Amino acid sequence: MSVLFKGGTVVTATGRYGADVFAEGDKIKAIGTDLDNPADEVVDAKGKYILPGAIDPHTHISMPFMGTYAQDDYESGTKAAACGGVTCVVDFDLQQKGETLLEALERKKALAEGKACVDYSLHPAIMDPRPEVIEEVKKACLEYGTPSFKIFMVYDFRVDDATMIRLLEETKKHGGLVQVHAENVHIINHMNGVLEKEGKLEPYYHAMSRPNIAEQEAIYRASKMVELTGSRLYIVHLSSKEGLWVIKEARDRGVNLYAETCPQYLLLDDDRYKEPDWNGAKYVMSPPLRTKESNQALWEGLRGGDIQVMATDHCPFDFKGIKDMFGKDDYKKIPNGAAGIETLAMLMHSEGVVKGRISLERMVDVLSTGTARMFGLRDKGEIAVGKDADIVVLDPNQKFTITQSKLHMNVDYTPFEGVEITGMPSAVYVRGKKSARWNGHQMEFVGEVGRGRFIKREPFEPI
Ligand code: URP
Ligand code: ZN
Ligand code: ZN
Repeated sequence: MSVLFKGGTVVTATGRYGADVFAEGDKIKAIGTDLDNPADEVVDAKGKYILPGAIDPHTHISMPFMGTYAQDDYESGTKAAACGGVTCVVDFDLQQKGETLLEALERKKALAEGKACVDYSLHPAIMDPRPEVIEEVKKACLEYGTPSFKIFMVYDFRVDDATMIRLLEETKKHGGLVQVHAENVHIINHMNGVLEKEGKLEPYYHAMSRPNIAEQEAIYRASKMVELTGSRLYIVHLSSKEGLWVIKEARDRGVNLYAETCPQYLLLDDDRYKEPDWNGAKYVMSPPLRTKESNQALWEGLRGGDIQVMATDHCPFDFKGIKDMFGKDDYKKIPNGAAGIETLAMLMHSEGVVKGRISLERMVDVLSTGTARMFGLRDKGEIAVGKDADIVVLDPNQKFTITQSKLHMNVDYTPFEGVEITGMPSAVYVRGKKSARWNGHQMEFVGEVGRGRFIKREPFEPI
């Protein structure tokens, strides 16, 4: 299969230029002017952008959590990804008690086998940090192709600070990257107790129970551990301006501290928890939505480089039958999480680029090129000869109103209902195969279920 994209504007993390792009098999084979390579398909890309597919490095596909499961499986989740211009996901793989990291990886790969519609990789999430598991980090970096490791400072499956230090020391030796969900569990437990006594159990109090300082303190503590060890650390789903201040201060002194944020922390604020009819439960996620000041600060962090990656934290639970059934009487029981994999790129273009908050090039960096570099996806993230032909042809003028019925995620609502989008993909290619297209009204999946491959990733240089 070969495709010739004619007359589009190729966008990279550092610039843009008019060119034709020729893809053959899985790869981009040529970029130039007036290319006339014979091709099975010729795409008229005049007036359109040729972008690298987005990479979502924070998804929870089929993850067991809070007494239920995140609802998208590999088929529904990655179909939705393709329809949103996401051509690769790096999904969390939660180790179970007694498992090795390899066993956990094989278990999760089996869920993806025959179902993934875009390429995928996995981050082992360390929940049972036995000495032999910490020793296995070397193999995960150098053999398994999974050199990033998630730990949680909250939830029942959190690890302690001593484990974080051991993991930072081990990853430093082998070029690994520790990723952390940073919130202070003791602050949260204390606030839960106070709110419970006062009978404050509606969804709004979820946000009250997890104040900005809970994130700030945990990021500060984690930042000191990475400073101590001289390793690398990545903060997932950064939500607060106070957390960003800590990251910026550490980075300014040369600490290897990185951060991602998600569209919900840029675009939604804690007023959402006050929506009537218990609607606030739709936004129960951890960390919670913050104020508009934090939204603004995170845009600045993204623009200025203190935040390097955009992700979604895609973790969908139905509003009716799951969020309400589990937590109607107590916000603490509402499964934490929301859907986002399909709306990531459209929101970043429309709310970010069109509204002048970030440049098109910065968008490419935080959605694709920088993400590929951060997570060792050598063949992805860039429109360049030799890279995988993961290509989004974006029509910057195409309008779309986000509404759940026109999306593909397996969930009954979207937190972004009603947002007017400017700029939608005309077509999305995963390693050279057309996988989604604009059908005049909405995106449509036209790819092949099961074609997505497990991608082995590369570690950083050891420090
Ligand atoms: O609320 C969230 N974020 N749910 C998914 C699990 C996590 O903490 O990332
Ligand atoms: Zn988290
Ligand atoms: Zn998450």
